[in-house]
Amino acid sequence: MKSTLAFDVYGTLIDTSGVFETLQEYMGNEAPAFMEKWRTTQLEYSFRRGLMNAYVDFSVVTQEALDYCCSLFNKNMATAEIQRLMDAYKVLPAFADVATALTDLSETGYRKYAFSNGSAKAVTTLLQNADIRTMFDGIVSVERTKMFKPSPVVYRHFIESTQAKTADTFLISGNPFDVIGALNYGMKGIWVKRSEKAVFDPWGVQPTAVVRDLTELKSIL
Ligand code: 2OP
Repeated sequence: MKSTLAFDVYGTLIDTSGVFETLQEYMGNEAPAFMEKWRTTQLEYSFRRGLMNAYVDFSVVTQEALDYCCSLFNKNMATAEIQRLMDAYKVLPAFADVATALTDLSETGYRKYAFSNGSAKAVTTLLQNADIRTMFDGIVSVERTKMFKPSPVVYRHFIESTQAKTADTFLISGNPFDVIGALNYGMKGIWVKRSEKAVFDPWGVQPTAVVRDLTELKSIL
């Protein structure tokens, strides 16, 4: 059986800065700092909830992180403004390289899955809206495990859900924590380093490969 490809979603297939324009209306020139803090807080909350065994749907994590950032930036957002941002988060754009890359990989025989902290429903909506859902053989969400990345539990769930071979499965992610989590479990891990400024955590473990965008995958897989 050909290798299995597990594509991370937020920050890999889907550009979370897609809410930036809406955010700019509310935050003006503080929007870049707010956007960054919102994303890092969202991930920190998922890590903490995983460690605490206090799972909630990833959309709740996203909203709680948004509420935290409103307090931190002293921004009293109306309910309608919060809802507008959360609605925008449900229909974020795909990165420009994704459709081409997935088309290039379509004839290779690799099984391709979207693999995310997001619920199956949320990821389905995202991929359908970005017009890339049909490019995947399936969607695997962590929700049934009630745990989050980078817990080994979620990578095991992926392997069991897809009947893949661990050592023959490539986790493909723009998030170093996710790549390290997959390597820790025994999968291969490809880091999508779209920004020259991005830094991989100095944990003494290296990605199986580094690509600048997903179109480079066809030449290394
Ligand atoms: C995911 O999609 C949060 O990027 C992470 O699972």
